[in-house]
Amino acid sequence: PNSIVLSTFPVIHVIKPRMTKKAWSGRFNSKESPLMEAFNASISFDKRLYPYDIQGSLAHAKMLKKIGILKATDFNKISKGLEKVKKELDNGKFKFSNSFEDIHMAIEHRLIKLIGPLGGKLHTARSRNDQVALDLRLFTIDQTKKIQKEIQKLQKNLVSLAEKNTTTILPGYTHLQRAQPVLLSHHLLAYFEMLRRDFQRLEDNLVRLNECPLGAGALAGTPIKIDRLYTARTLGFSEVSRNSLDAVSDRDFVLDFLFAAATLSTHLSRFCEELILWSSQEFGFVTLPTAFCTGSSMMPQKVNPDALELIRGKTGRVYGNLLSLFSTLKSLPLAYNKDMQEDKEPLFDSADTITKCLEILNALTPKCKFHPKKMLEATTKGFLLATDAADYLVKKGLPFRQAHKVVGKLIQFAISKNCGLEDLDLKTLKKYSKLFSADIKKTLSIQNSVNSRTSLGGTATNCVKREISRANKILKKK
Ligand code: ARG
Repeated sequence: PNSIVLSTFPVIHVIKPRMTKKAWSGRFNSKESPLMEAFNASISFDKRLYPYDIQGSLAHAKMLKKIGILKATDFNKISKGLEKVKKELDNGKFKFSNSFEDIHMAIEHRLIKLIGPLGGKLHTARSRNDQVALDLRLFTIDQTKKIQKEIQKLQKNLVSLAEKNTTTILPGYTHLQRAQPVLLSHHLLAYFEMLRRDFQRLEDNLVRLNECPLGAGALAGTPIKIDRLYTARTLGFSEVSRNSLDAVSDRDFVLDFLFAAATLSTHLSRFCEELILWSSQEFGFVTLPTAFCTGSSMMPQKVNPDALELIRGKTGRVYGNLLSLFSTLKSLPLAYNKDMQEDKEPLFDSADTITKCLEILNALTPKCKFHPKKMLEATTKGFLLATDAADYLVKKGLPFRQAHKVVGKLIQFAISKNCGLEDLDLKTLKKYSKLFSADIKKTLSIQNSVNSRTSLGGTATNCVKREISRANKILKKK
């Protein structure tokens, strides 16, 4: 019910910094400036990585037990401690502070508070650099799957609308000028195809996401005889990263996700733009569900398509997030640099924005009321059958270029008489080309035009029905 709230995570307020000793304080002989502490801290946003951080720590601890660094009893204490920290985080009891810098330090600090110095053994053969790379991968995998589910829902919604409109005809446009008649179902399935590729793009990235960076340490690996494959398998990865420098520096998988989100956002924006246009009085092709519209504080008659406009508008920030991370990563020397802390907010924002947009469209689309009569009416003006007339002459042997000219002249004449091509009698038509005969009448019908376009991927009802069953098969497979 509260699906408008962007973040699905509880808002946890960061409390005033307490002067906790830093994990790295050994080398320092002065206190950190409070300004620096606040500037440096990422905990206000990276706290949402906590489930992945704990999942990673549990797997790492399990591996440390396997290789004999942790005794079974110590492992039990550490894993119980981690579960307890997770519970505190789950139910909002965890006390956050900027002095912990980030979620990784906060969790470790709390673990040590709960189980004593033994908690400090968890960071053996691990650095925050490989830790954050892991957390980010796990987060991106989860978000990818979540968004893929929403994409499929939207595809299903489009297909069921298409199924209901296999004979509904509207003008197809180029340059936003009426061009040729098409089926509404054909038009809707165009978006099915875009979404199919969006799904695929995310799926492709899952292949590259399937590499565990844990064990890279700070940058060079570790002298401790760790079992990276074991940790990776425990976490559900089938591969491990093969270069420790790359493992902690790579954020390609975030860029790929952000790119997939940007392309998806483009498609959603185009779909929304069309619904906005179609719902205007100028078009009148669709009535939007008022539950997703808002009124004007001044003009009593207004019902504005805000949900669709917002989705169109949010495309800007989704593009911005991609460019933001590109700019951050450009020119960074290997390996980890603090610049990379700036990777999270764009990732979180694009994931949240895209998910929300898809959720809104999934609720809105099935409730759209299309107006087939209005659509058909719109096909009667604008010479939408001009190409059909030219193709008719081509079939009778005239080269297409000449046929194009003949019909162009006919249109000029029809405009001067304020009528359509179909209103001209055979005698008049014959003045322009002897090839016209009585069967032109059949050619110059909107239904005939649509159903004659039987080329693969064309708009004829038969073709569209075939694509609908293909679409249903694709959805079942996923
Ligand atoms: N908060 C950091 C980030 O998000 C974690 C890694 C910090 N590593 C370091 N050496 N300071 O990137």
